[in-house]
Amino acid sequence: MSNVSTVDIGFPDGRSYTISIADGLLDDSAIRTGVDASHAVVITERTILALGSTGPLARTVANLERRGMRVDTITFAGGEEQKNMSTVMDIMQQLYAVRGLDRKTLLVAVGGGVVGDIVGFVASIYLRGLAFVQVPTTLLAMVDSSVGGKTGVDFEQGKNLIGAFIQPCAVWVDTSVLTTLPPRELAAGMAEVIKYGIIADTEILTLCQELPPDTADYLDIVSRSCEIKAAIVIEDEHEITGVRASLNFGHTVGHALEGLTGYKRYKHGEAVAIGMVSAVHIGIAAGLTPPGLLDTLLKSLNGMGLPIDLPDDVSNEAIIELTCRDKKASAGVARYIIARDFGRMELHQLPVNVITAGLDRHRSAGSNHV
Ligand code: GLY
Repeated sequence: MSNVSTVDIGFPDGRSYTISIADGLLDDSAIRTGVDASHAVVITERTILALGSTGPLARTVANLERRGMRVDTITFAGGEEQKNMSTVMDIMQQLYAVRGLDRKTLLVAVGGGVVGDIVGFVASIYLRGLAFVQVPTTLLAMVDSSVGGKTGVDFEQGKNLIGAFIQPCAVWVDTSVLTTLPPRELAAGMAEVIKYGIIADTEILTLCQELPPDTADYLDIVSRSCEIKAAIVIEDEHEITGVRASLNFGHTVGHALEGLTGYKRYKHGEAVAIGMVSAVHIGIAAGLTPPGLLDTLLKSLNGMGLPIDLPDDVSNEAIIELTCRDKKASAGVARYIIARDFGRMELHQLPVNVITAGLDRHRSAGSNHV
């Protein structure tokens, strides 16, 4: 296949991998795995298995077999409610039963963010570490979660509280698999693309006016998103300097909304969309964010049909209480990624009265949003 675009991620210590992106990529057995392996275990959730012989699981298995690799397949139930340690244990039990599995076996995660996060985490601990390829099948996983090495599972007390940083050896993005994705799921992925527009590159917002009609139309969106994310991850792989924390713009309130609604009401990208609006209102209330930034954000979110309003049945107090336990919280005080301008993000610890004023501002904006 000739028109494969690639984004390379290289770290100062010499580790590197390639994100390969094309419409139809999974039918190309020349794409790099990044390692020399003769045995692979492809791991996916049952909804992907159900897509049958033309789905991404069958195409990934065929791709690996055409290279002469021996391939085993493992499935699990999937879904955010399965993203926990018992699923990790279940997958490891299944791996233990695979004949001939050793430390040279390649794991291949085929699925959305939940599959990628769980399989990446299993790869970080099973046999003290196995190489793994990410094959994202949702837009959100293509533009965000499959890239950058954050893996893990939810804990009873909070999302993604157990996990590891471990980079994949390759990421294979085939936009043709998006054909089976419902518009709501595509829009949720676009929320993370809009986030890149605010935190790094406003030009990408020109691609966020409405949902593109064809899967090939996502190539540019995915490539540019991966370039932005790669540059950030290379600079701050373990989220130490604050550069990578900018990727969490909108996620402080977003994660709280997901938790307070039982991870059922909103897709992750939808909660992030509302969370970005809250983060801008909080930034304006703090005198840190220029008010004009809000219009640009709302225009893009509205174009995708994403939710923008805080739900009436979730109080400011509940949001503030939960955000104090967010991974970005410091000594129990919530920290927010605040936009000082387009492409200029800062991590701020803000007084509760400012956060409340921002959330009130968001709630009272109501119909002015549309
Ligand atoms: N999704 C946020 C990050 O990868 O850092």
